[in-house]
Amino acid sequence: MAKYPELADKVALITGAGRHKGLGEAMAKRLAEEGCKVVITDIGSAQGQLMPEDAIGTTKEMQQIVEEIKSAGGEASSYICNVMSPEEVKGAAQFAVDTYGSLDIWVNNAGIGYLMKPILDMDVSEWDAVMNVNLRGAFLGVKYAAEMMVEQGKGGRIINIGSQASKSAFPHASAYTTSKHGMNGLTRTAALELGPHHITVNQICPNHVTTGLGAWQNAHFSGVTGKGHEKYMEDMKARIPLGRPGMQEDIAKACAFLCSDEASYITGESMNVSGGEEYH
Ligand SMILES: NC(=O)c1ccc[n+]([C@@H]2O[C@H](COP(=O)([O-])OP(=O)(O)OC[C@H]3O[C@@H](n4cnc5c(N)ncnc54)[C@H](O)[C@@H]3O)[C@@H](O)[C@H]2O)c1
Repeated sequence: MAKYPELADKVALITGAGRHKGLGEAMAKRLAEEGCKVVITDIGSAQGQLMPEDAIGTTKEMQQIVEEIKSAGGEASSYICNVMSPEEVKGAAQFAVDTYGSLDIWVNNAGIGYLMKPILDMDVSEWDAVMNVNLRGAFLGVKYAAEMMVEQGKGGRIINIGSQASKSAFPHASAYTTSKHGMNGLTRTAALELGPHHITVNQICPNHVTTGLGAWQNAHFSGVTGKGHEKYMEDMKARIPLGRPGMQEDIAKACAFLCSDEASYITGESMNVSGGEEYH
């Protein structure tokens, strides 16, 4: 049931939203429930060994998510967009306007969280891939979404999906942590520059959610720490004040709130959604 009637018929585009169990899928479905027309974008197919098929959202999965939204009574379309490509990001913004007549909400959600190695073992190509998708991709999203929103002249909402790693450092995650720390600067600068156009720019910083990417991290770090899966998950729960890891819907709720009128005076903010695990 819609909680924010003002979101009815707004047009929302979400990058990296073509993977089941993902934060992008959850935000897309929640915004569709609120009455938004949703453009689901994702890379669509594997791009070499740095972006293998089992780590990305395929075109088929993206189309399934669109069908699921439509079956639930919502409106959605899909568009293949590799966020490393300025042309494709710009094309995605144009697709939203061509398809639904507007672009009101843009969520930079695409991310790589699976190339995790100590700095001493990390290839430069792996560093580049993470930075290019997570930070450069978000910059392109902010740039082309803002360009379209400024031209429309009716404001807008841009949301960056950061991480607990936007605020704290984690071993084996130099590129990931650096890219997400960079998102703080991108969010704040964009908020300053776009405020006069009535475009708010905020970041959501989740802790752990067992998405496809999250499941990869659980398996990887259970092994790296030598704890095994059960102990690794137990320890994770134990350090979260609210006693559980994040759920996809926790992030979707924060996203809907930041898109709503309730958040109209909030910009440049990096909001932890972490059950109290992250507090600065
Ligand atoms: N799951 C977590 O615990 C967690 C915690 C904090 C932040 N995040 C962030 O949430 C976001 C979504 O991750 P998720 O956990 O839902 O995982 P996910 O794997 O479901 O989503 C990531 C998506 O990014 C897409 N992607 C990768 N490279 C791309 C590219 N070049 N162009 C377009 N899309 C591309 C993938 O295809 C995938 O669909 C990421 O930015 C991630 O860093 C996740």
